[in-house]
Amino acid sequence: MKGIMEELSQRIEQLKSKLRDSRYIVALTGAGISAESGVPTFRGENGLWKQYRAEDLATPESFTRSPKLVWEWYNWRRQLIAPLTYNAAHRALAELEEKFPHFTLITQNVDGLHKKAGSKNVLEIHGSIWKVRCTACNHISENYEVPIKILPHCKMCGGLLRPHVVWFGEPLPPDVSEETQRALGVCDFLMVIGTSGVVHPVASFPYYARAKGAFVVEVNLERTPISPIAHETILGKAGEIVPLFL
Ligand code: APR
Repeated sequence: MKGIMEELSQRIEQLKSKLRDSRYIVALTGAGISAESGVPTFRGENGLWKQYRAEDLATPESFTRSPKLVWEWYNWRRQLIAPLTYNAAHRALAELEEKFPHFTLITQNVDGLHKKAGSKNVLEIHGSIWKVRCTACNHISENYEVPIKILPHCKMCGGLLRPHVVWFGEPLPPDVSEETQRALGVCDFLMVIGTSGVVHPVASFPYYARAKGAFVVEVNLERTPISPIAHETILGKAGEIVPLFL
């Protein structure tokens, strides 16, 4: 046991020195970073997509078919997430941002926990469960009602509101996508934390950053399709590993 811990701390020390020498740092996070806060992940043993069918709940077609059903599911998730708070991994990323002038956090998570933890330069590429968007006029607003009234309508034009999240088959919002591309293109140290790396286009981001010269470190409970191109994969819980980078 002692040997394993010593080896881990040696590896982390080397990575920290690499991190200190880096100028443009990007952290890319997925559901795994919020797992220790109590937010369910999507895949894996107790993942949401084991109990629910994504095609019934997380596609534009499912919303057209039954906005009520989709909103009920989002209400359930809003209720689940509302009392939860950030964990040591979210906090560590917020602290790293304070130490480095060029630190970008790209998250697939819609739970808002990175911002709650104090991260500022956050690109929520899959949107936010705390935002709604009008299906008629596209107006986006924050909404923290729990539960939200079903079916909610736009204050501006009366159109039907939908969750401001990216569903399967939808592109990333163009402004966020551009910023993401720019951050990954110049990044020299990329931390990929708690993502299964199977959902595109995000799954290709580490490949892109590496091709552009980034050093890639992955933190996950298990190896993923990102592992083959990562310079280092640290197996462990995000809440235990990420704070070691401070
Ligand atoms: N620490 C580190 N990693 C963890 C932890 C933990 N405590 N718990 C789970 N993980 C890892 C799992 O091993 C898995 O690789 O987090 C990953 C979670 O994977 P997914 O559930 O697939 O989440 P994510 O990669 O964010 O999913 C991408 O899929 O359904 C969509 O839009 C949804 O944004 C989501 C996208």
